[in-house]
Amino acid sequence: MSGFDFFDYRNNELFCEQVKVKEIIEEVKTPTYIYSKNSILSHFAEIRDAFAEASPLICFSVKSNSNLSICRMLSDAGSGFDVVSGGELYRALKTGTGPDKIVFAGVGKTSEEITYALENNIFMFNVESQAELSNINRVANGLNKTARVALRINPDVDPNTHVKTTTGKKENKFGMDFVIAEQVIKNIANYKNIDLKGIHVHIGSPIYEPEPYVLVLEKVNEFLQKALDVKDKQKIEYINIGGGYCISYTGENVKRPSDFAAEIIPLVKKIGCKLIMEPGRFIVGNAGILVSKVIYTKTSTAGKKYIICDAAMNDLVRPSLYDAFHRTWPVNTEIPMPEVEIPGEGKDMGNGLEFVDIAGPVCESSDVLAKGRWFPGVKEGDLIAIFSTGAYGSTMSSNYNSRPRACEILVDGDNFSTLRKRETYEDLVVNEEEFLN
Ligand code: LLP
Repeated sequence: MSGFDFFDYRNNELFCEQVKVKEIIEEVKTPTYIYSKNSILSHFAEIRDAFAEASPLICFSVKSNSNLSICRMLSDAGSGFDVVSGGELYRALKTGTGPDKIVFAGVGKTSEEITYALENNIFMFNVESQAELSNINRVANGLNKTARVALRINPDVDPNTHVKTTTGKKENKFGMDFVIAEQVIKNIANYKNIDLKGIHVHIGSPIYEPEPYVLVLEKVNEFLQKALDVKDKQKIEYINIGGGYCISYTGENVKRPSDFAAEIIPLVKKIGCKLIMEPGRFIVGNAGILVSKVIYTKTSTAGKKYIICDAAMNDLVRPSLYDAFHRTWPVNTEIPMPEVEIPGEGKDMGNGLEFVDIAGPVCESSDVLAKGRWFPGVKEGDLIAIFSTGAYGSTMSSNYNSRPRACEILVDGDNFSTLRKRETYEDLVVNEEEFLN
């Protein structure tokens, strides 16, 4: 199965590395996220090696998977972190990583978060507005510190991805346009407690072709050459190109980091800056699956067939939120999973597949994890795997419908261990109980 590398079927049963998925589930039950350690580390190595010529600082995007042990693993492998809240900064610091490898983005950093970041001497803030820059300057002054910053530019480039995950077009709330960035840079001396270090751009994700990055870097280069004088240009030591590097959700071959590097590195060299990158999805996306159990099946008089499983939109919101496509297949089945599955193009292969919607128990019509799929016949109690859920799966989960969050398991070779235990009903009310009268 292209892209899922460390997950494969052997004798009709799904393995993660050398461990049978079923064996894990017998111990920890469902729903459960299972990650492959060697998949995560190999993806980290792949992107690091692809860009090695530019010796980038790789800051893993914590929002994609913020599990402490996973962040620690990546930190041990040499990664820094891209954080977007005080909470993510807390997690990043807990891994024991050097604060000099942490960059902080986000349009609404509060004074408290800025204080927390300055007190911990993070490497850089990716600043998204003049108002934010003034506030960082003020807070830094109060702490008698200098804040290192990159200006996040909104370059108005279309990344050709889902409208809800597009961040670098002029109608998006992120960053500042080139005109404002120029004004800020020309007036930077007025911000006494700011040290301008670079430019940051993140235009969206997932991005399937290098072209949008090329367009962005060409625009940034032109900006640096034309709009800035030599003195101002010298301040720009770093170019941070954000994240967005695609993964295959369908099993098709997609561009790899080396394809992106081939186009990006020459432009970074031309710009003459050091490179920072913020990959999230590429590192963890295909390193995780969500395993669920079939609770019921039902068929309407009109013939519509549903598989109701015990994972729901609170566990994995991407299908409900973005109509995202995640391949889904039984954990134990005699019917081989097709190499490639294109959304809306599945077909009856005459081998016992049924046309189904796979839905969760949450009381929302949008709680459908896999819509309109040709799927092997399953019965109550069977396990199903939802692939490519290592990124933006667990981190976007919630307690909606008072459903405890799933547990998270890591497989390493022929061992597996818990990285997050399943929440209990007590966990659900722990912050409310003391106020009950
Ligand atoms: N840097 C910044 C500033 C970002 O906002 C993001 C993602 C990244 C890096 C990492 O992007 P990645 O390499 O993971 O594509 N929840 C959505 C995606 C929204 C991502 C938001 N920012 C999803 O489930 O697809």
